[in-house]
Amino acid sequence: MDHFEIRDGAMYAEQVPLDAIADAVGTPVYVYSSATIRRHVRVFREALAGLEHDHQAPLVAFAVKANPNAAVLSVLAGLGCGADVVSGGELRRARAAGIPAERIVFSGVGKTADEMALALREGIGQFNLESEEEARTLSAVATKLGLTARVAFRVNPDVDAGTHAKISTGRSENKFGIAYDLAPAAYARAAALPGLSIQGVAVHIGSQLTDLAPLEEAFARIGTLIATLREAGHAIATADLGGGLGVPYDPTMPAPPAPAAYGDMVRRATAGWAVRLIFEPGRLIVGNAGVLLTSVIRVKPGSQAPFVIVDAAMNDLMRPALYDAWHDIRAVRPSGERFIANVAGPVCETGDTFAMQRGMDRVDEGDRVAFMTAGAYAATMASTYNSRALTPEVLVSGERWAVVRKRQDIEALIAADSVPAWALNEPTED
Ligand code: LLP
Repeated sequence: MDHFEIRDGAMYAEQVPLDAIADAVGTPVYVYSSATIRRHVRVFREALAGLEHDHQAPLVAFAVKANPNAAVLSVLAGLGCGADVVSGGELRRARAAGIPAERIVFSGVGKTADEMALALREGIGQFNLESEEEARTLSAVATKLGLTARVAFRVNPDVDAGTHAKISTGRSENKFGIAYDLAPAAYARAAALPGLSIQGVAVHIGSQLTDLAPLEEAFARIGTLIATLREAGHAIATADLGGGLGVPYDPTMPAPPAPAAYGDMVRRATAGWAVRLIFEPGRLIVGNAGVLLTSVIRVKPGSQAPFVIVDAAMNDLMRPALYDAWHDIRAVRPSGERFIANVAGPVCETGDTFAMQRGMDRVDEGDRVAFMTAGAYAATMASTYNSRALTPEVLVSGERWAVVRKRQDIEALIAADSVPAWALNEPTED
């Protein structure tokens, strides 16, 4: 459920008409609903009821990569969320937003020694190690600083998550985690390293999952591993079950499992584990909490259907170009008429197409259009391709709204480059 609705003929974000935001800020612009974010955190927590351990509720560590905007992170910090970070930059964003260090887990296959040192100095709750090589580097960094890193290994359970290949992470051929069968030996060696304190296990098999069965299979394997590790004398106190639960993008398709069904599955799969559970949801929290608001530049005829050319492009919302992702496209002021159209941006490649032959609200030049479910992996994946300024972001709460990232200044973008004198004076080749 989200808070973007048509009321009196026009789309609102909570109590704010999208037209008012577009009039003031221009388009394209991302608009986020804080009520939707809050609702999703509450629904997810309710789904995890009964999973307390030692009177502690599971840690909900928001996957910052999904939406790292400072205002969004601040809302989540206010709700008591932790953060799953994958870079020094994300770690600093999470801390700046007020997320306590002990609620931060650090994931990712390529943590550098500098990033490890930063995280150690901050005192983060857990490093999710993805290789023994990484364990050795972290041990060296921690020893040098005289600090102890609390660690888990991210285990690759070799389960097919059944999602898009580019966002599937739990197969043995993927780059993530340590191989399941090699985990006991890896834990034994890591336990002998100075500066590391083993505290848990971690798993994450992919994103936009629409079937709970592969997750349950992966969790079952983790349960077996926890027992094996305990028999070998390791104190396993945490299990990080990652993120990945899908959200509805296409209202005509069956909806992904609800958080409540996910919670039931987790309760079943983790019964008797006696660990503090950690979750790293990203898309589930913010996906439906955002729209990309754009204007129709013009409509040009096409051989099969007209092309609706909008002022947002693949550089603003990359998911359709990168994963053939489907985003619902709605008129901000729907007339009730529908048509079949292609929707594309101004960037000079065919990949800059959001939808082909889409049945949608009829729109014309100057109309405004919203790309739905654009709160996750959207603004954060933007680029300045075609020298297009990064799109601003707006956060709404009730009747209030604020620009939470201003539109990038194109002059500043150009000025960021520098031209060495010799590039101007180089003699021409003959
Ligand atoms: N934890 C780890 C270790 C992850 O790698 C990810 C996502 C998450 C948690 C959060 O997963 P979520 O709950 O959001 O599914 N750019 C792609 C998605 C990439 C996901 C990467 N990892 C997209 O636009 O679909």
